[in-house]
Amino acid sequence: MSRYYVTTPIYYVNDAPHIGHAYTTLTADALARWHRLIGDEVFFLTGTDEHGQKVARAAEAAGRTPAEHAELNADRYRQAWDLLQISFDDFIRTTEPRQIDTVQAFMQRIHDNGHIYSGTYEGWYCVPCEAYYNDDDLVEDPSGGDTPLCEIHRKPVEWLSEENWFFRLSAFAQPLLDWYETNPNAVQPEGKRNEALGLIRGGLQDISVSRSAVQWGIPVPWAEGHVFYVWYDALINYVTAIGYNSDRQRFEDWWPSVNHLLAKDILRFHCVYWPAMLMAAGEAPPRQLNVHGYLLVGGEKMSKTSLNQITPAELVEDFGVDGFRYQFLRGQPFGPDGDFSYEGMVVRYNTDLANNLGNLAARVATVVAKKCDGVGPAPDPDSPLAPIAAEVVAEAVREWAETSPPKALEATWRLVREANAHLENNEPWKAEPGPAVDRVLGDALEVLRIVAVLASPALIDSTDELWRRIGLTDAGGQPNRPTDVRVPDGLAWGGYPGGVPVDKGTPLFPRLTTS
Ligand code: MSP
Repeated sequence: MSRYYVTTPIYYVNDAPHIGHAYTTLTADALARWHRLIGDEVFFLTGTDEHGQKVARAAEAAGRTPAEHAELNADRYRQAWDLLQISFDDFIRTTEPRQIDTVQAFMQRIHDNGHIYSGTYEGWYCVPCEAYYNDDDLVEDPSGGDTPLCEIHRKPVEWLSEENWFFRLSAFAQPLLDWYETNPNAVQPEGKRNEALGLIRGGLQDISVSRSAVQWGIPVPWAEGHVFYVWYDALINYVTAIGYNSDRQRFEDWWPSVNHLLAKDILRFHCVYWPAMLMAAGEAPPRQLNVHGYLLVGGEKMSKTSLNQITPAELVEDFGVDGFRYQFLRGQPFGPDGDFSYEGMVVRYNTDLANNLGNLAARVATVVAKKCDGVGPAPDPDSPLAPIAAEVVAEAVREWAETSPPKALEATWRLVREANAHLENNEPWKAEPGPAVDRVLGDALEVLRIVAVLASPALIDSTDELWRRIGLTDAGGQPNRPTDVRVPDGLAWGGYPGGVPVDKGTPLFPRLTTS
C-alpha cells in the first residue's frame, strides 16, 4: 500500500470562504477520494491561518479580538467544507498548541543550525499579501500617489522599519537550484516551475522571519517581544499535522511524499521559501507542489473591493452539492486561470449531469422496468463497450495520477456518451424482450456501475444513489457503495451481477433553466 499526503493552503481567517478557496479544497478532496479508491493510505490536511496583521486588522475593524475573529471565520470554513462534503482527515488551526510548539521547535532548529541572524529590516510590506516587496515588485499608483501599489491587491504598500531576525535565504539559492535540477517534476506545471526558477536565479535576499510591531503571532523562543512572521508560522503547519514535533515515526512515514496544492499567488512562499526552510532545518523538501491558476469572475480575481466574491452556499442552493463539486472539478483545466460564469455552470450541469449521466440512468431504468420486469440483466462479456471501458479506466487512472481531475472526468464522461450511443444504436425500447435486449441493457448497467465508481471522487450522494438504483446496495457479495470498490481491479468489465432490482426514482439531476 502506498501513502498519499495531500494538503491545501491554510486559509486566512480575515473573512469567510469564497469559491476560489473551495476550488483548491475540492481538488484536494477529489484527489484524496481517488487515492482511497485505488487503495492508498491517505492523509488529507486543510485548515486555517490565523495569525498576522491581516487577521488582526480585520478583527479590529469588526470590533472583535483576533482570537474571536479567528474562531468565527475558522468555523465558517469548517461549515463550508462540511456543506461541500470535504473529506479532510485533519483541520489544523495555527493558533492550536500543537502548531505553536512545532513552529517554535522547527524555527529553533533553523536558528541552532546557524541560518538565522539579527538585523534591521527596512522596506515595503503589503498587509493583504502578508509579504515584503522590493521596488521592482511594485507598481506605480495610477492616481499619482507617492506610495507604490502591490501588484496583486492594487493597494498602497506600507514602509516597515524594525529590528528583526533574518533567515539566510540567500545561502540556499544553489541548494534550491540543485534540488530543482534533480527533481524536475517537483513543481507542476512546467510554467510554474520556470517561474520559481526565475525567482531563484533573479537573486534571493535574506528574509525577515520575525516582527516586533505585531503582537498576534507565535513568540520567537530566543527573542522576547518578537513573534514569527506569519508565513514562517503558516508553512510549518504541513509538518505539524504529521507529528514533526510529537511523533517522529509518524512524521517519517508521511514526509516528504506530500502533494501540496496552491494557487500561483503563493508560489514564492511554497516553491522557494518552504523548500529552503526545510533544508535549513535538516529535512527533505516536499515531493510535489501543484500550482494552479485563478478562478476568475468576469475576467477578474475575486476580491472584497470588486464585490465579486461568491460563496459556495449560494451556488449549492441552485446546483446541489454534487452539481457544485462537478463544476469546479471539471469546469476549467487544472493549471491555467479559468473564468467562472453562472450561465456556463448551468450549461455544464445540464449537458453532463442532467442530459448525459442522468438521462442514461433514467432511460436504462425505464426500459428495464418495461422489458425485464425491473430486474437488471448481466452485461455481455463481448460487448463493444468493454474495450472502451477498459481504455477509460486506464485513462482516468493516468489523469488522476497527474493531478488532473478535469481530464479524468472528461475521460469518464466519454464512457457515458458511448453507452448512450450504444442504446441509440440498438433501441432496446423498440425490441421484444429477450436475450438481445438483456445484453444491451446489461451493458448499460455495467457502464453505470463503472461510472459510479470513477465519478465518486466528484459526485458523492448521487453516485451512492445511482449504486442503489442499479441494485448494488445490499445486493450481497457486492461492494455496498461505489467507494468500496478497489480501482482498477474492481472495474474489470463484467462486474455487474445481473438479477438485481433496478429502481428508476426521480431524476438524479433535475434539468435547470437560466432565469
Ligand atoms: N494563508 C495563506 C496560505 C498559507 S499556506 C501555508 C493564504 N491564504 S488565502 O486565504 O489567501 O488563500 C489563498 C489560496 O486560496 C490560493 O493559493 C488558492 O489556493 C485559493 N484561492 C483563493 N482565491 C482563489 C481564486 N480566485 N482562484 C483559485 N484559487 C484561489 O494565502
